[in-house]
Amino acid sequence: MALQLKTFENINELYDFAAQFLQQKVKDGAKTFGLATGGTMQPLYKNLRQSDVDFSSCTSFNLDEYIGLPITHPESYFTYMQKELFEQKPFHKSYLPNGLAEDAELEAQHYNELLAKHPIDVQLLGVGENGHIGFNEPGTAFSEKTHVVTLTESTRQANARFFDSIDEVPTKAITMGIDNILQAKEVLVIAVGEKKRAALESLLQGEATVDSPITALQQHANVLVLTDLNISLA
Ligand code: F6R
Repeated sequence: MALQLKTFENINELYDFAAQFLQQKVKDGAKTFGLATGGTMQPLYKNLRQSDVDFSSCTSFNLDEYIGLPITHPESYFTYMQKELFEQKPFHKSYLPNGLAEDAELEAQHYNELLAKHPIDVQLLGVGENGHIGFNEPGTAFSEKTHVVTLTESTRQANARFFDSIDEVPTKAITMGIDNILQAKEVLVIAVGEKKRAALESLLQGEATVDSPITALQQHANVLVLTDLNISLA
């Protein structure tokens, strides 16, 4: 079956499962991992930091990066990844979009070219309350590749918790497109907490619609969803 769902009553078990899932993928020969940031991934990366996983022969591609934040800014996804994972579990090579590139459109194109050369074996995904994946906001065509986005007000509000004030949350980002995500051989989605219920319901029980970007995954052949929500496949 294309879409599989695994629900957990215990959140620690969910993250143990996710960490072991990724470790097994490395053992099975997966070479290229698509990585996500955000609050959802922090317990997973903590779990991986404490494990004996070895990513040193693997390559990683992050989904997205804010435009305009210095990479040393504590909330840049570059810094997030260094702290949460790479300092302790380095990959052979790790790519993130460069949010400081002079020409962001060109940078998006460059990232796309890199992705074309490195097909992703396992893509890790969180989901926004509005159904976004990466920073593909509602309304994004499923055919979109890496591109520059203007963040919606709801996404900026949701991410404001990581900044001193909402005014500091960047308004733009570079994100892998939905098409890039659909090209991954396998996708692991983690959605925890009631705030994610509507987005998850749209994936598991609704029709594919650009109004909820995560529903694009209904077109993918191999998606595993992990959640702590009491929810079922339609
Ligand atoms: C992060 C990303 C986003 C987040 C989503 C959920 O790289 O691409 O799509 O996965 O915004 O964020 P959290 O986990 O903070 O709720």
